[in-house]
Amino acid sequence: MAEKDYSKYFQKPNLRQAAKRGKEDVKTINFKMPDCMDNIGKDKKFLIDTYGCQMNVHDSEVIAGILGSLGYELTDKEEKADVIILNTCAIRENAENKVFGELGRLKSYKQNNPDLILGVCGCMSQEEKVVNKLLHTYQYVDLIFGTHNIHHLPEYLRDAYMNKERVIEVWSREGDIVEHMPVHRGGKVKAWVNITYGCDEFCTYCIVPYTRGKERSRNPKDILGEIQRLAKEGYKEVTLLGQNVNSYGKDFKDRNYGFGDLLSDIQKINIPRVRFTTSHPKDFDDKTIEALARGGNLCEHIHLPVQSGNNDVLRRMNRKYTHEKYLELVNKIKTKIPNVAITTDIIVGFPTETEENFLDTLKLVEEVNYEGAYTFIFSPREGTPAARMEDNIPLLEKKARLHKLNELINRQFAAAHKKYEGKIVEVLCEGTSKNDKTILAGYTRTNKLVNFKGKMESIGKLVNVKITEGKTWHLLGEEVNE
Ligand code: SAH
Ligand code: SF4
Ligand code: F3S
Repeated sequence: MAEKDYSKYFQKPNLRQAAKRGKEDVKTINFKMPDCMDNIGKDKKFLIDTYGCQMNVHDSEVIAGILGSLGYELTDKEEKADVIILNTCAIRENAENKVFGELGRLKSYKQNNPDLILGVCGCMSQEEKVVNKLLHTYQYVDLIFGTHNIHHLPEYLRDAYMNKERVIEVWSREGDIVEHMPVHRGGKVKAWVNITYGCDEFCTYCIVPYTRGKERSRNPKDILGEIQRLAKEGYKEVTLLGQNVNSYGKDFKDRNYGFGDLLSDIQKINIPRVRFTTSHPKDFDDKTIEALARGGNLCEHIHLPVQSGNNDVLRRMNRKYTHEKYLELVNKIKTKIPNVAITTDIIVGFPTETEENFLDTLKLVEEVNYEGAYTFIFSPREGTPAARMEDNIPLLEKKARLHKLNELINRQFAAAHKKYEGKIVEVLCEGTSKNDKTILAGYTRTNKLVNFKGKMESIGKLVNVKITEGKTWHLLGEEVNE
C-alpha cells in the first residue's frame, strides 16, 4: 500500500526528532470534545488492553473516559467489543513481543467483525520501526496514535468510521499539557495523578525520553485541584506520577517551586495517603526529605531505582550519581524518615558489565537492604546510545547474574516481612484476595501487601491489622477492632 493512500492524518514517528529538546514554552490547554460527536459510541462497546507502567494505566483511564463521553460502554469480552485498543509499552523487547503476539491473536476477531476498530497506542506507536511493522505486517490495524495526542481520539475515531481508512497519527514532538480530560478511573479507593509528563534524563538504555517527549510539569494548582476533588469523591489514596518526580518544577520559568514544595502543599489536603513514583537519586533533595519526615498523609515508601552499584556502569548509563552518593542519600533518608521502606530497580548485563562490576551491585544491595526490587536483564532499544554499545555478555551469564541478584533481594524481602510479625499496622483495604474471596487484601503505608481476616464492610477503608505471619511475598494478618 502506498503511503498517499492513508487518511489526512497519516503521520509517522521519528526517533531523531523525538530526541530533540526545544526551548519553546509548553502551553496548558483545556480538553474540548469536538461538536456533534456525542453519540458515535451509542450501543457500542470498547475494551482496552494495557501494558507497561502506571503512566500507561492512567492513560488508559483517560482513553476510557473519552470513549465513555462518546457513549461507548466498557466490556471485558473481546467478541462483544466494537473498539479494541492496545495501549503498549516499549521498555524491553519482551514487552513488545507480547503486543505483537496479541495483535496476531486479535486478527480473527477483525475477520469475524469487519466493523471492529482495532487501535494501537502508547509507547510502541512512538517508535518508527514498530509503526512500519504495523503498516506492513499488521495491515488490519485501523488506528495508530501516540502518547502526545490521546486528546484527539474522538476525531481519529470519526475518521476511521466515516472514511473507512486507517488513521495513523503519531507526534514525535510533545504537544501541550491537556487539562480536564475525561477520566474513567479503574477504582474508587486509589487514584493516579500525573505531575510531570515526559523525561529529559536520557539514561542511555532507556527509550522513554523518545516515546514520551520532553519533561513538562503540570501546574501546581491543577494538581492540587485534582487531588482535592478526589478527596471529596472519597478516594483514600493518590499516587503522583512522573518519570522523575524529583525534577518536578525545574521547567517552570516564572517561579521557584519544586517537588518538596508540591509535597508540602499536598500534605495539607485531607486525603489519607499520598505516594509517588518514580524517584531519581540525583534530584532527591533535602526539602523533599523534610516534607516526608513530617509524615502525615505522605507514605514512608520510596521507590529509588539504582540500576547498578558500579560507578563505571552508572556513568555509561548516564545516571549522574555514584555508588557512594546513592548510599549517602539512602542513609540520610533512613535517618530522617523512621520506618521508611526503600525499593529499587536494577538492570544486569548492561553492555560490558564485568563480573566485578556486578559484584559491586550485590554489595550495594547488601548495604541498602532493600524491601523489594524489580530486576531486569538489559534489553537493547533501537535508537538509544546503549543499543550501539558492545553487548559482549553471553545470555547465560546475564541470566546467572539475575538469578543471584534475585536470591539476595528475595531474602531481604522475606526478612523485612518477618519484622512485621506481631505488629499492628494500618492497611487500606482494597477488596478481597485474588485467590480466596473470604480473605481481605490491602497495602500498608510502606506498600506491603497484606492478606487478612476481617469484616467485608472494611473494603474501601483504612483498618488496623495485626500481622500474624510474614511470608516471602506478602503478610498475613487479622483485623483488630478497638
Ligand atoms: N522513570 C522510571 C521508570 C523507567 S522504566 C525510572 O527512571 O525509574 C522502569 C525500569 O525499567 C527502569 O528503572 C529500568 O530498571 C528498567 N529499564 C529501562 N530500560 C531498560 C532496558 N532497555 N533494558 C532493561 N531494563 C530497562
Ligand atoms: Fe528512562 Fe532514565 Fe527517564 Fe527513568 S529517568 S524514564 S530510566 S531515561
Ligand atoms: Fe513502558 Fe512507556 Fe511506561 S515504555 S514503562 S509504558 S513510559
